Parts: sequence; C-alpha cells; structure tokens
Amino acid sequence: MPDSVNRTVSVNRVDGRLKVTGGARYAADQPVAAVAHGYLVLSTVARGTIRSMDVSAAERAPGVLAVFTPFRALELRGSGNPFSVGHSWLPLQNTEVHYHGQAIGVVIAETFEQARDAAALVRTGYDVRPPAASLPGGIPDATDPGPIMGEPAKLEFLAEGVESIDAALAASEVTVTGRYTQPMKHHTAMEPHSAVAQWQGDQLTLYCGTQSATLTVGTMAAALGVAPTQVRVVSPHVGGGFGNKVATWAHPLLAAAAARVLGRPVKIVLSREQTFTITGNRSAVDQTVTLGARRDGTLVAIKHGAYATQSASGGIFESPGHTTSRYLYRSENIHLDQRIVTLDIPPPTVMRAPGQESGSFGLETALDELAIKLGVDPVELRLRNNATIFPGRNVPWSSKHLDECYRVGAERFGWHRRNPAPRSTVDGDWLVGTGMASANYPGERFAASARIRVRADGTVSVDSATADLGTGMWTVLAVLGSESLGLPIDRIRPDLGESTLAANVGAFASAATASTGPAVAAAAEAAIAELIRVAVTHQDSPLYGVPTGDVGYDHGQLVAPGRRIGFAALLDALGLDVVEATGNAGPGPEHGRYAFTSFGAHFCEVRVNRWTGEPRLSRITTVIDAGAIINQKTARSQIVGGVIFGIGQALLEGAHLEPATGRIANPNLADYLLPVNADVPPVDVHFLNHPDTLFSPQGARGIGEVGTVGVAAAIGNAVHHATGRRIRDLPITLDKLL
Ligand code: MOS
Repeated sequence: MPDSVNRTVSVNRVDGRLKVTGGARYAADQPVAAVAHGYLVLSTVARGTIRSMDVSAAERAPGVLAVFTPFRALELRGSGNPFSVGHSWLPLQNTEVHYHGQAIGVVIAETFEQARDAAALVRTGYDVRPPAASLPGGIPDATDPGPIMGEPAKLEFLAEGVESIDAALAASEVTVTGRYTQPMKHHTAMEPHSAVAQWQGDQLTLYCGTQSATLTVGTMAAALGVAPTQVRVVSPHVGGGFGNKVATWAHPLLAAAAARVLGRPVKIVLSREQTFTITGNRSAVDQTVTLGARRDGTLVAIKHGAYATQSASGGIFESPGHTTSRYLYRSENIHLDQRIVTLDIPPPTVMRAPGQESGSFGLETALDELAIKLGVDPVELRLRNNATIFPGRNVPWSSKHLDECYRVGAERFGWHRRNPAPRSTVDGDWLVGTGMASANYPGERFAASARIRVRADGTVSVDSATADLGTGMWTVLAVLGSESLGLPIDRIRPDLGESTLAANVGAFASAATASTGPAVAAAAEAAIAELIRVAVTHQDSPLYGVPTGDVGYDHGQLVAPGRRIGFAALLDALGLDVVEATGNAGPGPEHGRYAFTSFGAHFCEVRVNRWTGEPRLSRITTVIDAGAIINQKTARSQIVGGVIFGIGQALLEGAHLEPATGRIANPNLADYLLPVNADVPPVDVHFLNHPDTLFSPQGARGIGEVGTVGVAAAIGNAVHHATGRRIRDLPITLDKLL
C-alpha cells in the first residue's frame, strides 16, 4: 500500500454494470431447479398461547406440499447465541406467542401465490394475554440490562471529592436538561429478506442475503444439528442491510428445515410487511441529558440516562449514552444510566450506528441548548470541550481530528455568516435556520483473512468471506488488490459473499474495509513471496537458482539483476495455472494503548414553512475524519447514505406500535415514511483523509455508520434556529411545528 496521505483513488463500482443491468443475483434471484415456495403464517395477537391451528383447508389448497406449525414442527435446536439468532428462541418449537407478527407456521407449495393463498386459510385459536407494548407505560418497570459492551449499565466517572453527578450538576454555573424521545424504527432495506435452501445429500447450500456468511453458517449448523462444514452460505449481493442482515431470522431456518423434510429446495421470500416483525428493529428511546458547565462553556458534568425498548424475546437494544456521552467530550464528571423496558414486541437488533444514532440526538441537541444559554457559538462550545484522552481508560486517541472537522466544515458551509438569533432569517414563506452537530463511531477492526491467486492469464483473484451490502466492498476489494500488487484494477478479480472464501467474520460495525484491507496486504506479500519461491526453485524458470534475496517484485514483474519477467509469462513458462497464498491480519498490541474512533461534523440549513410548518433540509455539509479513504467514490456514497438515514430519523421515520395490541400499524413503505429524492438536498461530503497508522497499516477506519450520527441533532438544531421551537421528540413533523 502506497503512502496514504492525500489519497485520491476514486473508481466506479466494479459491480455497477451487473447491478444496473439486472445481472446481480440477490438471494431470491438464484435459479434453483424444482424449488418449492414457503410462505410464513404470522401471529395475529402479541402475547398468549396457541390453542389450536386448523390447517385442513390450507393443506387441501392447490399446490400445497406441507403445512408446518408448532403442532407439526420442523426440528430445530437451540444455538444459544442471541447475536446470531435474532431472538432467544427458534421458530415453531412451541406454542408461545411473544409478539404480533411472529412466525407461527409455514406453508410450502409449488408456487409463491399458492403458498400465500393457503397461508391465509390457516385458522388459529389463541389463549390471549394482554401485551405490554408501550415504552412510556413500561418505564416504571424498567430494568438494568447488565453490562453494555463490557461496562456496567450504570457507569460513572467522578472527579476527586465529587460525591455524585447531581452534586456536580448542582455546583455547575450553568445547567441545561432535556428529555429526548424517538420511536421504534425499521431498517427497510430495498431487498426484502429471503432465503433459498437446497440440500444435496447432507450438504446445505443456503442463498440468503447476509452481512455475515460466517455467522450464518454457525447459526444454521447449530440449529439444524449438522457440522459447519455441511453448510455453505452464498450471498454475493445484498440489497441493503443496515445491521438487519447480521442475525439469522426465522426464514432461513424454516426454509432449510422444510427443505430437509420435503427433499426439495425451498425458497421463502418475506413480504415487506413481514420484514417489519420477522426481522429486527431499532429500539424506541426515551433519554434525558443534563449538562453542567462553567460560564466559559467548559463542561463539568454530563448526565445521560436512557430507556430503550427491548423485546421479551431478547435482541440488541439501543444504548444512547454508552456510545456517545461516554467519551465524546471532555468532562470531569460523566454519569450514564441505561435501562431497558421489556415489551411484547419484535426483537430489536443492531441498526446503523446502534446507540450513537439516538444518543447523538440527545447529547448534540442538549449541547445546542447549552450553547444558546451561554451565548457561545455551538462550534466554539464543542472546540472548548474537545477530548484528547478517552475517559476512564486514560488512553489517547490514535488519530483524532475532530477540531479540524469543525473548522473545515464551518468554512465550507459558511457558518460564520450566521446570525445566532433564532428566527432571524426569513425567505418569503420560509423560515431559514442553520444547525450543526458532531458525529462519532468507534474504529473497529476484526481478524480476517484474504486469499490471492495469481493466474497465468495475467489476472489476480482476491477473495475474502466479507459482504457487500451496497457498501462498495466489491470495489474496495479490487482497489486493495490493485494497490497491494501494483496492478491495474481491471486485472483484479475480487470475490466475496460466500462462506467458503478466506475466513472473514463479515461486514458490520463499519469494520469490513478496516478488517479486510490489512488481510489483502498480507496475502499480497505472501503471494509475492510464493511467486519468488516458485521462480527460483523451478528448473524451467528464467530465475532458477537466483538467491531469493536478489529477486524483487515490481508491478506484476519479478526482477533480478539483469532479468525481469511478468508473472503471467513466468507461470506460462512453468506450465502453472495459478500461484496462491493466504494472508491473515488482525489488531495488534497497540490496540490496547489507544482509543480508535471515527469523527465528523455536520452543518446544515433547514427551511420551515411559516404557514404549514413543513420542515425541509435545504443543504448539508459533512466533514469526516475516518482515517485514510480507500476509494473516494464509494466512500462518499457511504456518507451520503448515512446522511439520508439521518434525514429519515430527523423528519420522517417511526413505527407506530399500537399499545393495546402490540401491532405495528404502518408496516409498509407507504405509511412508514422514508426520505425520497425530493427530501434529499445536495450533500457536500469532505474527508480529512489523515491515515490512522496506529489502527492499521493502511490507516482506514470505518465509514459505514459515522455519517448518520448527529444528523438528526443538526437538523433539529437548525429547526430551532429557524423557528425558535425546540422539538425534542422525533421525527420532527409539521404538526409539532404549528
Ligand atoms: Mo452495523 S448496525 O454493525 O451493520
């Protein structure tokens, strides 16, 4: 990898043509002969016991092959890993109903339509118990969830002699406090979840859009009672995941179990509505942030308490304070208290910037409220509280340029022209305001492998079992291969999205490039060493007998004094098709001595209609400090996508959970509002591009999630600046501004 300072690599997606021409095969597109179709039967109550299921009409319906229910169950075993199985139980193994829209049966038929129609004929009787489905209603019974990322849910750092956070707040010259709420949300990936399961003997091939073929293999093998070597997961293209395609949900488990019983491949495609309950969500959050500061803006106390919804079936809940206030600013006193409200609702799971998304709305809005109270510019307030040491761990950041994000962002946006007075700018019918907020997301890196195959035809295959969920990983893998071997990108054949490729835990925690990149570099080094070994030991080689130390590698050629041969010519001369090597890389000892975080700053302008209250984002500048950027073009897309995600959080998105029934009232893309093109103004993205070489040799931290963090606060702060109205409940819809 060349010196990464001021990297300017910007290449098109290598899979772009395949995608826009419809050639990219998503799980449900995979042609599998004689496939039967499954359709899930969902519970219509949120809590209770299934008394009876009359499947006789369904079984007699045209084309139906089988109807499986808890009374005619498919055998699945517990895997005991709630991160791999989306919830704490396996589907159809008993008659308990844990939430509205739970899988309680599956109909298998010759066609999708036959399965769907027959599923509607199943008659289910329940012993119903009243569900708990309201976050406010459950707060009195909120509980301590136990450790969060290895730290207590109630976590406190107090300066010496300070008795409590409340004492620190009481002694503060200025305080602000705000309660910030947001509804449950859904990932709503463009590609609905699906799975196609095909057994050949005792070998299962599962086509299933996943962020982790590796974790899916483990979960499927455990649940089906087979060895991991008997399961192959194929997922070359994933139409969006946002965290919801990390866990394994009911549909691949049921497809594989039914296929095994029926001796036929089975495909299950979830309807859009089914994705809202069969797969995960983001917890609803009710958080209170209290800040104490000196008159000059120095923070002395941060108190961040949060309630997040959790499902009685388990899942991964939102941890707002632990992911933001935990370390984002310097403060002598920091107090976090995370609690969960356990409800009869579908399980939450990780969703793009899990924790930071909600936490930044609370913290970054509270900071805006503090800036106003102090009469200090919001950028200046953040600069004054810039942290250099990770609180409680006493380690510095490996590479932190958040202050530069503020300065560059303010400059690009024209922040200094701002009149700080709320409601000071009117343009015709529109009140115009500007706002800003910080972004943060941990720099994660996992051990990973990559395999390189140097071929006689002059191409090089680079493979690793990671995933491309629209993130650009196909392209990044090609760029990494190209740079590691000094070859043009069109000679690199990347491969990913299959469990049998070089070991890689997959694409989540914004860690795919950071984990895979060093593995590719290691594989390239190993492949070059192997090429040299072959070249000097093979009798037909023009380099035969040359001391290894005298042979170098230069852009695809082996070089020795007076001699130079390209690898294709070499392999050709030796009659070899391929020379291959695998490289492994993971975090080193320096990872214990530093904190790794990606940072950013958003500056945005909002226009609110004076008469209708309609809020519109009119422009936004986002500056990101994520280390070296491997490919500008796909990286920019990641940040733009994160910003759009944040527009949804700020202005549009929310599941409407009926408290009495536990039913989601808007499980479709007509009623669950998402940003569309008309909601998205030009997004000005700038990367600082400072390589974080303590993090990895390439210095690239993650970019998949950081871009969404803080967007909702920036927009809300701009809405306040435009209107003088502080909306602390998301989404900020026009009714709240009238
Ligand atoms: Mo991410 S929410 O870890 O896919």
